[in-house]
Amino acid sequence: MSVRRLAAEQPATFSFTPENAAWADKQIAKYPEGRQASAVLSLMWRAQKQHDFWLPKPAIEEVARRLGMPYIRALEIATFYSMFNLEPVGRYFIQLCGTTPCMIRGSDGIKAVLERVVGPMRKVRADGMFAWLEVECLGACCNAPMVQINEDYYEDLTPENFERVLDDLAAGRPVQRGSQAGRRSSEMADGLTALADFYGRDGRSGPGHDGAMPSEPHPDSPHHGDQTHERTEANGVSPNDGLAHRELRQSENVAEPDYVDVGTRRTEPAISDVQHKRHDAQVAAGGERDGPSAKPGHEPEHGEAGDDEAGRGGTAAHTEKP
Ligand code: FES
Repeated sequence: MSVRRLAAEQPATFSFTPENAAWADKQIAKYPEGRQASAVLSLMWRAQKQHDFWLPKPAIEEVARRLGMPYIRALEIATFYSMFNLEPVGRYFIQLCGTTPCMIRGSDGIKAVLERVVGPMRKVRADGMFAWLEVECLGACCNAPMVQINEDYYEDLTPENFERVLDDLAAGRPVQRGSQAGRRSSEMADGLTALADFYGRDGRSGPGHDGAMPSEPHPDSPHHGDQTHERTEANGVSPNDGLAHRELRQSENVAEPDYVDVGTRRTEPAISDVQHKRHDAQVAAGGERDGPSAKPGHEPEHGEAGDDEAGRGGTAAHTEKP
């Protein structure tokens, strides 16, 4: 992290515009008495926006004065957070993300445009329009490569469309913010996908439904060769394989669990569903309930019998017929 110092050249004074001063008063009023300093970030941000996106020393002093806090504390905050620019950054301050996803997607090409069109990093272009800085991930990796210009993101950049954005900004023409490739947000660049493509819209008709699921992971999968994906010698089915899994259970005389169809995949039911079915079967057969734990949704409490053989019948207090 670079050392962050105040610019050598500073304006003599700073004061909020009447509109911004009224806005600042509203922010300060949000905090309880004695906690006005909590508004320091929002006031500094407003001051920076008012002052061509950089925060001069008189603005830091003005914020500290309004909040009744020592100047040194306000200075600590201004020099700590990289969101505050401590020296002039031109009319348009460009932050280029150079972190891995953006780098893989071509941020070096964007950087080359900046070096050619704007100049060296941290230097304001001669006409005062641009300055740029390489920063770490700005959280728009899905639309890499990207830059932030003042408060807006520009994504899906190529050297060509980025240079066009710079030309339009310099000429005062309107520019397209966000994706330069027409994406609305961060959906797949080559079209939407959904589980319905694999399982069918009804969860039953797609190529990946139930037994049609591939039982072996793809050779490139990190799970390829995992113990859990290998077919058993006895019956040649994968324990993780939907329908095959059930066949394995039946061949081993393992009780088949109930399944709940949730549309796109099958899953073990909640315990309460099993309890309900067992309870209904017992009632239909005219049998006696297994005790308090057999009651649907009832959890055994301290002193009650559980749902195992030892507990069958429960305590007398619970099993005696009226
Ligand atoms: S890596 Fe560039 S936005 Fe995340």
